[in-house]
Amino acid sequence: MNVVVVGAQWGDEGKGKLIDILSRDADVTVRFQGGNNAGHTVCVGDQEYVFHLLPSAILHKGKVCVLGNGVVVDPQALIEEINGLKKKGLMVTPQALKISGHCHVVMPYHRILDGLRETKRKHKIGTTGRGIGPCYADKVSRCGIRMVDLMNPRVLKAKLEDNLREKNEVFHKVFNHKDFLFKGIYKEYLSYGRTLAPYVCDTVLFLNEQIDKKKSVLFEGAQGTFLDIDFGTYPFVTSSNSIVGGACPGSGVAPMKIDKAIACVKAYTTRVGGGPFPTEFSARLEEEIRMKGNEFGATTGRPRRCGWFDSVLVRYAVIVNGISDLAIMKLDVLDEQPKIRICTAYKYKGKKINVFPMDFEVLNRAEPVYEVMNGWMTPTTSARRYKDLPRNARAYIERLEKLLKVGVKYVSIGTKRDQIIVR
Ligand code: IMO
Ligand code: MG
Repeated sequence: MNVVVVGAQWGDEGKGKLIDILSRDADVTVRFQGGNNAGHTVCVGDQEYVFHLLPSAILHKGKVCVLGNGVVVDPQALIEEINGLKKKGLMVTPQALKISGHCHVVMPYHRILDGLRETKRKHKIGTTGRGIGPCYADKVSRCGIRMVDLMNPRVLKAKLEDNLREKNEVFHKVFNHKDFLFKGIYKEYLSYGRTLAPYVCDTVLFLNEQIDKKKSVLFEGAQGTFLDIDFGTYPFVTSSNSIVGGACPGSGVAPMKIDKAIACVKAYTTRVGGGPFPTEFSARLEEEIRMKGNEFGATTGRPRRCGWFDSVLVRYAVIVNGISDLAIMKLDVLDEQPKIRICTAYKYKGKKINVFPMDFEVLNRAEPVYEVMNGWMTPTTSARRYKDLPRNARAYIERLEKLLKVGVKYVSIGTKRDQIIVR
């Protein structure tokens, strides 16, 4: 069985925890897009692990993790992540990690440009500053540098020289920024190439061989549907296709080979960075939920914006991703709310809108239309079976199923591995 897991909101839905659980039954776990803008948290006992580039399945011995060609790799960040695990006693071997030679490489000028572009924007995206956008832009502009290039000094030299010739002019003339010097970057990136060479291979052939042998592959989406470059709240999005469909171009596995798509949602909504967010809480409730849910970015530490569950938004995600099962995460964060709201429509210029609008001006100005449910006012963290949940919590979940037209298979009620209900 080959399964794709994606986020159905604006990222941080709890994909890391779900992947950690599902990857026990998978032979291979693949990241197919994004880079170290992602922050996937997995708690094992008292240890907390945050993964940015490595698939969250790396903690399971004997399993294979893959960085598919759709991922953009900051080699320095990746090496740090591998070394960090080594310090915790976990060796990442070339048997356990395979990196596509076609992954585009995040260069120092990408990180700098990411920050400089933000300073020039009136409406800031609030990027993670990891150079993700500029790296993907170079990929599409056909001047990117790929992992294989780091292992070929002659090719790297030619590509880096070409890039610096053009980029230094832009940095100088547009941003009044000092030049990037060829020699240092060239040496640094050749050295990354030497360190990472044992992990680099043709992951397309590897993945398809595994699928032919009836092994199961789990695709780990990063970010979320509304951060998708095509379907998200553009331009307040990331630069890759974070929907289920992105798994194919990002890994070289054909769509016919994918059996199922699962979406992760939070029992409420969060977003980091700029952009529309109709159901955003008032300041007091936001602060309360942020503290209860520990809603601070796993990558940048920024406080996350928080709001009620938006079923108009998530229904669109269910459609665009072809979702068959939902995982509702962090239900326990709502344990002490006497009243819980669900957004079921938007009101704009006196009209009720039931579907996710094309024009985000509507999203910016819309008033959410809420349905109010009674809270359960009982701790849910020790529930292990669906029937252990308080009646009102079940009613909330079942109402969401109805609004979203899809079943909820997993309910997470805490950060620990065993705090999950499988229906
Ligand atoms: P995970 O995988 C939440 C957001 C940034 C910003 C926008 C663009 O942990 O869910 P970028 O650096 O990608 O160009 O920033 O996207 N963003 C995320 N928000 N979780 C993430 O990943 C995110 N990755 C990017 O905050 O608004
Ligand atoms: Mg995150």
